[in-house]
Amino acid sequence: MEELRRAGPALFTPHSRALTGPGTWIFTSSAAIRAIFQDPETFASGGVRPFGQLIGDSWPLIPIDIDPPDHARYRRVLNPMFSPARMAQLEPAIARRAAEIAGPLIARGDCEFIADFAQPFPVSIFLELFGLPLERLRDFIGFNEAILKGEGEAQVAAIRGLRDLLREEILRRRKQPSEDLLSELLTARIDGRAFDDDELTGLAVTLFLAGLDTVTSTLGYMFLYLAQAQSAQSLLRDKPELIGGAVEELLRMFNVVMTARRATRDTVIDGVEIRKGDNVALPTSLISRDPAEVESPDEADFMRVDNRHSAFGYGIHRCLGSHLARRELGAALRCWTSTMPPFTKPAQVRPVSTGIGVFSLARLDLTWA
Ligand code: HEM
Repeated sequence: MEELRRAGPALFTPHSRALTGPGTWIFTSSAAIRAIFQDPETFASGGVRPFGQLIGDSWPLIPIDIDPPDHARYRRVLNPMFSPARMAQLEPAIARRAAEIAGPLIARGDCEFIADFAQPFPVSIFLELFGLPLERLRDFIGFNEAILKGEGEAQVAAIRGLRDLLREEILRRRKQPSEDLLSELLTARIDGRAFDDDELTGLAVTLFLAGLDTVTSTLGYMFLYLAQAQSAQSLLRDKPELIGGAVEELLRMFNVVMTARRATRDTVIDGVEIRKGDNVALPTSLISRDPAEVESPDEADFMRVDNRHSAFGYGIHRCLGSHLARRELGAALRCWTSTMPPFTKPAQVRPVSTGIGVFSLARLDLTWA
């Protein structure tokens, strides 16, 4: 990403990923990326992620695929469900899940961190939130992989499978409400009415897709860093009070999301003429590591003050689940630096990153004595 920054203020790629259109602009200055994030009238989010359409459905991903003015209506209902106070209540359950998943690994002396911890951990929290049984863990990990990283028939089948499963659960909660988030969505009111079935599907699918791969990928880069920076790892073992600062700083250093928007009219950004219908990719890491904004951006400082990174985005679509994500990342760091032996990465293994909207490590081998 830093090479892109050096290449100039904007690049054009003929690739559009799942998007239609002639290709995608990638902006590299934090000022331009922020300006686009802050102008949802010119740079819309609606229609950029056509998962429902891929299976012939009409539900949009809510709230990420909703533009103003409706977007604020949804966020008003959803924000209290993911508030810092609500997420604090989940802390014991999150810590318990981290310990349950990491604990059995200790005796092995090594693990493939992505498959053994970084994937099952956030999925298990999602199951807890939605009141789903832990036995479904592998199904949900499979859906997540096939939807976000697969293509063609496999991707379509996974979207359908996830939708059917979530709809089944919605129906079950209608008959027998429980204490979970899905039941809460059923009783929630938007402009005095309940969410309809399409809205509930779009909400449930979004909460699933937005909150798993992002956490898995961030954990991957955080633990790769700690496996290589032994002094940083022992600092957290000796001073667990620095874990909150470490979560924030490692989030700043490893922004995994490159999101997208589509221009609703012709406009000019950083001297580049954007045409109506053009796609624009927004790499958040180029804000968080911009040397013009952050002192020594490539150095991890767990005591950095005023750490205003953009790992969770910027503007109206800023991450709904940021407080949950922070608790999950903190619990993972606490668990691994308090109950697991010091871990390293085998020198001969070179980690491979992939990047389709979310940068992630394909695998991360860790060993310990
Ligand atoms: C480290 C983990 C996470 C990272 C790095 C992350 C990052 C982001 C970013 C960059 C955006 C803005 C996307 C855009 O503007 O197009 C976003 C939005 C969103 N995130 Fe997260 N996220 C994380 C975890 C979570 C979790 C755990 C949830 C679960 C609830 C979640 C739910 C959402 C939702 C629903 C949105 C859309 C908000 C809206 O459109 O108003 N995220 N996230």
